[in-house]
Amino acid sequence: MITSKEQSAEWWLDMNLYQIYVRSFADSNGDGVGDIAGITQHLQYLADLGINAIWLTPFYPSPQADMGYDVADYRNVDPTYGTLDDFDAMVAKAHSLNVRVFIDIVPNHTSSQHPWFQAALKAAPGSAERNRYIFVDGRDGGKLPPNAWGGWTTTEPWTKVDTQWYLHMFSAEQPDLNWRNPEVREEFKNTLRFWMNRGVDGLRVDAPTLLIKPELTAKQAEDNLPDLFPIYAEWRKMLDEEFGPRCMIGEVFDDAETGMENFVDKAHMNQIFCFDYQEAPWQADEFKDIIDSWVTTTREHGSSSVWVSSSHDLIRQVSYLGFPDPKNKGSDIGPEDEQPDLELGTRRTRAMTLMTMWLPGAICTYYGEELGLPDHTTLTDADLQGHDMDRDGCRSPMPWASDKPNLGFSTAARAWLPQPQVYRELAVDVQQQSDTSMLSLYRALFKKRQELGLAAGDVTFIDTDTDDVIVARNGNICLAINFGDDAAPMPAGEVIAKSLPDIDVTDDLPANAAVWLYQDWAVEDDDDEDDDEDNSTDSE
Ligand code: GLC
Repeated sequence: MITSKEQSAEWWLDMNLYQIYVRSFADSNGDGVGDIAGITQHLQYLADLGINAIWLTPFYPSPQADMGYDVADYRNVDPTYGTLDDFDAMVAKAHSLNVRVFIDIVPNHTSSQHPWFQAALKAAPGSAERNRYIFVDGRDGGKLPPNAWGGWTTTEPWTKVDTQWYLHMFSAEQPDLNWRNPEVREEFKNTLRFWMNRGVDGLRVDAPTLLIKPELTAKQAEDNLPDLFPIYAEWRKMLDEEFGPRCMIGEVFDDAETGMENFVDKAHMNQIFCFDYQEAPWQADEFKDIIDSWVTTTREHGSSSVWVSSSHDLIRQVSYLGFPDPKNKGSDIGPEDEQPDLELGTRRTRAMTLMTMWLPGAICTYYGEELGLPDHTTLTDADLQGHDMDRDGCRSPMPWASDKPNLGFSTAARAWLPQPQVYRELAVDVQQQSDTSMLSLYRALFKKRQELGLAAGDVTFIDTDTDDVIVARNGNICLAINFGDDAAPMPAGEVIAKSLPDIDVTDDLPANAAVWLYQDWAVEDDDDEDDDEDNSTDSE
């Protein structure tokens, strides 16, 4: 049981966070849609896996124009997902298993059904109601939008209501709030208090870079960082003073240097996600640069990386890496598109998992990643539910049981999205029976990561003969991963984990494979760094 006293400071630096896409994780009431009670039922599964924090995507009352990222009431649970009592029961159960709970806070915009926006529509230009949002007179007597800004997921971010237009960086159902208005700021602090008082441990902050808009004459809508930072600094102060160690992670797409300087130093968030890792091409030098800069820079700023490989906005790693030369991650693969080679994608993902689990810092696992789930890449137009962008491929319901309807996700006749055929053989019950499944690999690696203290370690890269390989050590554990198409020399050391069950320790390191090797560097350290052959492997 986590009590506030036991909340050790900075518990997030090495956490194993699990992203639950609430709609798709587990349906407890048979309506075809995942819910909070379904999460509660599976918390033991997550704790057994090695997860110690969960992040729930938005479960608030919402018309679901953007699957919950259009919030109509920030202090309640959508009836589709349950009740506040269900939420409290979920938090209590999570805490009893030493699992912390993150909620997703969406400050940039509300739903157009939010009472504030409804009131703004009815009120006159210049009113206090309109001043909570960004209503601006149109050009040419109101006929044209106020300026030529582009949105994030929409090409035209202005929608006309009368002589005025309102701004929405996402869909028209997601009007942007006016964060220069003190009332908006107060309202959100009270929302945070509401959830913190219910035992929430952390926040995933949605689109945090967008809140403060520049002058209307600016080229883009998203360039006003100095006025942005005080908002989060205020949140930090409130969280620290009123609640103790609570974590804020930003959905920031910056590189390590910029992200740390802005969002950790100036905005006082604890961490930002490392999206570079998720979108990197399958190349040793790219990963090396990302790892190097993120590990070093986050540490310099008293933070840590949150390594991300998959999420609800982009295609899953198994599918992405299933293209011979993956470069542009994109958000969906359709039935007409070239299809990924899942054998290749799975093999690379297993190798990448060895790398991720070996890295210092925190890890964020997207639901089903531990099963090696690919995207649903043959969804028909009739299946699609997402309105604005097609991101349904990475949101298929979790397969729990191979012999049950909807693979154990729901007892409904139909789940909200179909599951691809291949999910049957990837279901939790099937993978639990096998020592060599992705699930078993995940569980074993989380355990070793903990035992070996890798999350708190450091990375030193070792020179290699080929550019296709990363060889690096974290304490006494050496990672060797081969991104190339040819086998590479295997470094010395005792193999303690491998991405493929059939790698022979005396062999070369095969293409698209990885190993962890135990090397006793304490004995080595006085020697020449290049003298790798003599590594002692038998001490301890
Ligand atoms: C974030 C979410 C995405 C959502 C958007 C608007 O990028 O991850 O799913 O559509 O914000 O809230």
